[in-house]
Amino acid sequence: MDVVLFGRKKTVAPETSPSDLDETRIPKHVAIIMDGNGRWAQKRHLPRVAGHKEGMNTVKKVTIAASHLGIKVLTLYAFSTENWKRSENEVNYLMQLPVDFFDTFVPDLVKENVRVNVMGYTDQLPKKTQTAVNNAIADTAHCTGMILNFALNYGGQAEIVTAIQKIAQQVVDGNQQVADITTDTVDQALMTAPLAPYNNPDLLIRTSGEERISNFLLWQIAYSELVFTEGYWPDFDDAELRRCISQFQQRDRRFGGVKQPKNK
Ligand code: IPE
Ligand code: IPE
Ligand code: MG
Repeated sequence: MDVVLFGRKKTVAPETSPSDLDETRIPKHVAIIMDGNGRWAQKRHLPRVAGHKEGMNTVKKVTIAASHLGIKVLTLYAFSTENWKRSENEVNYLMQLPVDFFDTFVPDLVKENVRVNVMGYTDQLPKKTQTAVNNAIADTAHCTGMILNFALNYGGQAEIVTAIQKIAQQVVDGNQQVADITTDTVDQALMTAPLAPYNNPDLLIRTSGEERISNFLLWQIAYSELVFTEGYWPDFDDAELRRCISQFQQRDRRFGGVKQPKNK
């Protein structure tokens, strides 16, 4: 529904109850730009990092909710290649968060049958963060349910540059013909390749009222449905996730074709 808020038209997810969701049309891959941790804290006269701590608890709740809804891949933007510009104190805190998160949450992930995947330039992370990530991946490797995919030191432009380098090297090595490079070749060279067949998000959510992509999955969101919510990430919850999915279910995804009959 469209409403006018302070003279600006905003799209607001309509109120829904769990029974409003069409269980047969749950988006398979949901990606979230978890934004607004700093503002959540500042509003409470707390240091920005208090927002990141609370945001971590939201990640736990939303992961369980997404898994119960039957989502196949939940991709969470946790740290961008541009977030190194923040203060040393904040960056250090953000690098410790995965350690604390996995320390306390891996048993729940295993219980939920959720497998952890991480995409990004993880070799540039502090050793303790790399160890925490690698242990979580190993400890959940046997899980066959939802994939919890963290974008950590991830940037869409850098990812595309890396993919171009990989493909160019294949050409140099004689393993790829230039004329044979297709969208599939690119898909396979991107960091989302291990998520196949759910490489591309069906639904992309950004919290906190900002309406931009901030270098998130640039190639992969070509046909994603975008939902922007007003609340800060620490206040996001199961009900808000359901409202976003309800909005998704009201969209007509046409992929360049013509209008599909409702409930395709
Ligand atoms: C998102 O919240 C978390 C990260 C980018 C790590 P922010 O820290 O960007 O919060 P705001 O946008 O400054 O409120
Ligand atoms: C995007 O949020 C990155 C993450 C959520 C990890 P930012 O807060 O860094 O984005 P900008 O700076 O507002 O575009
Ligand atoms: Mg932000």
